Amino acid sequence: MTITGAVQRTASPVASQGLEGNSAGDGVALRASLRDRAAAIEAAVDALIPAVPGPEARVVDAMRYATLGGGKRLRGYLVAEVAALFAEGADADARAYRVSASVEMLHAYSLVHDDLPAMDDDDLRRGQPSTHRKFDEATAILAGDALQTRAFEILAETATHSDAVVRTDLVLALARASGAAGMVGGQMIDMEGEGRSLSLEEVRHLHALKTGRLIQYSAEAGAILGQATTEQRERLAAYGRDIGAAFQIADDVLDATASAEELGKTAGKDLAAEKSTFVALLGVDGARREAEALARRATEALAPFGEKAERLRDLARYVVERRS
Ligand code: IPE
Ligand code: IPE
Ligand code: MG
Ligand code: MG
Ligand code: MG
Repeated sequence: MTITGAVQRTASPVASQGLEGNSAGDGVALRASLRDRAAAIEAAVDALIPAVPGPEARVVDAMRYATLGGGKRLRGYLVAEVAALFAEGADADARAYRVSASVEMLHAYSLVHDDLPAMDDDDLRRGQPSTHRKFDEATAILAGDALQTRAFEILAETATHSDAVVRTDLVLALARASGAAGMVGGQMIDMEGEGRSLSLEEVRHLHALKTGRLIQYSAEAGAILGQATTEQRERLAAYGRDIGAAFQIADDVLDATASAEELGKTAGKDLAAEKSTFVALLGVDGARREAEALARRATEALAPFGEKAERLRDLARYVVERRS
């Protein structure tokens, strides 16, 4: 089977949706910022996972397929936008985009594995066949594994930051966010929750782990790169935690209310799999209210950062208003 040439996907209309309800100025500025940073993140991922010749080419092609040409790049955006609170200029940007690319690889690995038959068994991702459908299950598992290790490798490389303490801090924070106490733990609770109803507190915990920790990490990674004070880092972590929780509630609402065409992934699958979601517990309106309250609280944590944090405030609204 020929796979070269199939690794580039059409970019989804990511950053262009979900802001219609905002005052024109805010939506336009955030859209432009999301688009610009998404392009820079795409270029960074492309450079950091070069296609290779030889017998191992297939797994690298699958890694590129899973990471390039789609996705909202929310996590990578957060890294770069938070880092820009502390340092500007081409060198600082290049360092931040390496960390953005790294978290997008970790995230892509989580999606590749989430779509496997043993998990959500999903055929569609970012408007294209999911990685195990495009390649095969063994290749998808291996591509996910290698995306994860590449993400950590990039953080540990000196080009990411000249200070080894900063690099170690990034590695530690990503490990904590993505392992059994983070994303993986949340995925375990999600799978075990199928077919039985979890309490609201249990679903909050599930969301915090499976989605919240990695989004919180993304905001914190920008603060780590910027060598922020403890108080600044804690505020940005609180912001990330709350938009992360709001983001997963919005994902659950969209699963119940949007079409596969809008989402680029199968709709209505939470109900079909009897997943425990906010929508199942509170209904669509109740879930939306919860997400909006979290987004409001997230922006409060940004108060000391003043006007420089305007795009981050816009982003808090975007995560709950988005349609894809
Ligand atoms: C999907 O994440 C999985 C969740 C944690 C809800 P995204 O909605 O960020 O997926 P992409 O990266 O934009 O495709
Ligand atoms: C997955 O949550 C979150 C991950 C850690 C991958 P979902 O299963 O709800 O994500 P989608 O809806 O398939 O993108
Ligand atoms: Mg899932
Ligand atoms: Mg899924
Ligand atoms: Mg979902």
